[in-house]
Amino acid sequence: MITDKQLKSLWRDFFTKHGFAQIQNSSLIPENDPTVLFTTAGMHPLVPYLLGEKHPQGKKLFDVQRCIRTGDIDDVGDYNHNTFFEMLGNWFMGTCPKEEMIRLSYEFLTSKDYLNIPSERLSVTVFEGDELAPRDEVTAKTWEECGIAKDHIFFNPKEDNWWALGSGVGPCGPDTEMFYDNGNPKCSENCKPGCHCGKYNEIWNDVFMQYKVDAVGEKAKLLENPNIDTGMGVERTICVLNGLKSSYDIGAFKEVIDFIDSKAEIKKSDETVKSYRILADHLRSSLFILADEKSVKPSNIGQGYILRRFIRRSVNHARKIGLDTKYFSDVMDKYINYYGDEYDILTKNQEFVKIELQAEVEKFAKAIDQGYKEFEKVISGIERHKQFAKEGEIVKDEISGKSAFRLFDTFGFPIELTEELAKERGYTVDKIGYEEASKQHQELSRSASAGTFKGGLADNSYENAKLHTATHIMLAGLKKMFGNQVEQKGSNITPERLRFDFNLDHKMTEEEIKELENFVNNAIERNLEVTSEELSLDQARAEGAHGIFDSKYGDKVKVYTIGDVDKQICGGPHAKCTGDLHHFKIVKEESSSSGIRRIKAILD
Ligand code: ALA
Repeated sequence: MITDKQLKSLWRDFFTKHGFAQIQNSSLIPENDPTVLFTTAGMHPLVPYLLGEKHPQGKKLFDVQRCIRTGDIDDVGDYNHNTFFEMLGNWFMGTCPKEEMIRLSYEFLTSKDYLNIPSERLSVTVFEGDELAPRDEVTAKTWEECGIAKDHIFFNPKEDNWWALGSGVGPCGPDTEMFYDNGNPKCSENCKPGCHCGKYNEIWNDVFMQYKVDAVGEKAKLLENPNIDTGMGVERTICVLNGLKSSYDIGAFKEVIDFIDSKAEIKKSDETVKSYRILADHLRSSLFILADEKSVKPSNIGQGYILRRFIRRSVNHARKIGLDTKYFSDVMDKYINYYGDEYDILTKNQEFVKIELQAEVEKFAKAIDQGYKEFEKVISGIERHKQFAKEGEIVKDEISGKSAFRLFDTFGFPIELTEELAKERGYTVDKIGYEEASKQHQELSRSASAGTFKGGLADNSYENAKLHTATHIMLAGLKKMFGNQVEQKGSNITPERLRFDFNLDHKMTEEEIKELENFVNNAIERNLEVTSEELSLDQARAEGAHGIFDSKYGDKVKVYTIGDVDKQICGGPHAKCTGDLHHFKIVKEESSSSGIRRIKAILD
């Protein structure tokens, strides 16, 4: 049995031996990158260097990097989807020696001193070429020279063998992926790496970063100084090497799941295992977000919103299996214990973690209570409708999909709970309508996770909406004062205040702060209407909207207009008119990081 700790240690030995320098494991919150909420790959903290800046530690680097990916959050609970994971990575900066990297990969995978995988158990995929980049013959040939059989080398198109960050922006390029073949017979004639039957399991990815994309929707351009970026997921690899199907059966997850099993009223079984896994996954992710150097708290936007979702989902699943939420703190202790030697933030910030976790759990309990009241309102609404139905109109004893989704989204009421209560009262729930509403919401949140605000947030209060509108006006003011190159670099809103990061090369003077306040207050006094419309990206551009042009999810975007002051692509929510904001006041202007200023402001 090889453990995650052993794998990390082999990785470190191997790359140190080959002259690579270890770089630090960075925060989960990407520095100055408004396009994504979390660090999603080992290369993320290196983006400026991969684009050409010189790295102080040289041209050959490696690391172990914590990451969070939430794109698959709804799949967590099956056997191997995790939101938090550690990625092993190594880099050649400013050069792209493919043959050398492939030989290194082969050595690490097959050498007796390292992973000791028999060569015949390996299969690889290679980019087949298109108009942007040629067929990667060099890579295929090098694999063959290393000892990979020709019929274990597969050529694939861009969909499979091209790597870019989730947002699409940044360095990217063709890759070669390495798969471990568990020896099962092929499930069909077409079975090959990428097939989901379980025979082939991806363990490592070498990306040849010869390209870059500057902005969402733009075409890839050649990078002057190409790089190599590789990534190996720790848990997935451990699973594969140990012949296990599920990452939840080993390491820290196993300890936590066994612990939950010992405390929950409803024991682990095929029926309940999903809840166990979701709890183990979401509580671990919550721990790493709460304990992060950048200190995130549950909130209704950005990273805080994802954190809130993790915690609330954990509470729901704890309820399903009859686990008292007081045990969450013990689960945290188990993870802190397991990962503490690698991550000192966990021990250092454990008190903060537990206090914030507890507070969120309690807040959620209150929201659920409100949800019960709301549920009653929905039922009386249907009854009233029945009473006043027109002749011939049939009103079903059914809770609409929209209402069920609102109960979930605003009050955290899981659909199962709504169904349960409905059944007790002789009602049904429109599940299809619910799925539709939920899908619509997901699409909104996905485009919003490109860094802006989410539409349809859980209990989004009007206070937040007002501060959000103030943020838009303020950015418009900043652009007016300092030029259009000023951009949002981060934003966080609580019901009490806004916090806004933007690029500026100097500390704002008192006069400038006053001028900005006046700009916002002037817009408030004029009581401008805030309107929104759905436009295609091209229309939005033509109308002079600014913001993140993300065409990935649907071609229509929501554009908010604040009178003659601002037009921005954004998911909302916003105030109805600027008069509602009363009065804007900047309480702090400070440095956030190099070249980035941070403003905290309130409405009073
Ligand atoms: N950045 C590449 C990945 O995440 C290596 O697969």
